[in-house]
Amino acid sequence: MNNRKIIVAIDGLSACGKSTLAKGLASRLNYRHIDSGSMYRAATYFLLLNNIDLSDNAAVKRCLSQLEIHFKSKGSRSQLYLGGQPIDKQLRSQEVDSRVSQVAAIPQVRRKLVLLQQEMGEGKGLVMDGRDIGSVVFPDAELKIFLTADLDVRTRRRMKEVTQNTDLLDFETVRENLVMRDQIDSTREDSPLKKTADAVVVDNSNLSPTEQLEMCLVLAQIRCD
Ligand code: CDP
Repeated sequence: MNNRKIIVAIDGLSACGKSTLAKGLASRLNYRHIDSGSMYRAATYFLLLNNIDLSDNAAVKRCLSQLEIHFKSKGSRSQLYLGGQPIDKQLRSQEVDSRVSQVAAIPQVRRKLVLLQQEMGEGKGLVMDGRDIGSVVFPDAELKIFLTADLDVRTRRRMKEVTQNTDLLDFETVRENLVMRDQIDSTREDSPLKKTADAVVVDNSNLSPTEQLEMCLVLAQIRCD
């Protein structure tokens, strides 16, 4: 039995399996799972939908004041709502994919989303994955996991995901997109992806989803006791 509720922060590069691990952990611990990346994707989708020039700070700011994101939980599963409408598929389009890191580097976008994320952690019992969860959103999280995987492995995983979404792409294009996003996410000024000193590094290049889940569940259970 888990004695106390904790916050599990999972950070890592694109397509290294953060959401799969986060969903699995949330389900086994009976916690809520929030994919913070989906919030950056929703903000990107919203800005694109409104034809906002991303370099126009005033326009971005005006548009952000209309941005309304919330989640509804079904057990450990969380559905994102944008302006009251559930949205999924649109968040994974190639257009959003290629712009999201640029949007996530805008400080006013981050400020707004980080506050929302912190509110979600108030009752603990939360698994959140992203880039800055252990470093900025929940610096006191009881368990921080930093996930990594080989670039080619990540490319194959992303292709599988994208193909399921019917956008057919070749290996090199997907790989280049990941490299570009890794570069923006790791070098941006505001909250770059970085491993904190207290995070546990898990390289899952050669681990199955079940193996990584069982391993991280042990780490979580130690902290719940
Ligand atoms: O699925 P994938 O790992 O490629 O990306 P994601 O988790 O859906 O996040 C999309 C993008 O949002 C990332 O590439 C980051 O640029 C940004 N992001 C962020 O800046 N901070 C977070 N906490 C989560 C995502």
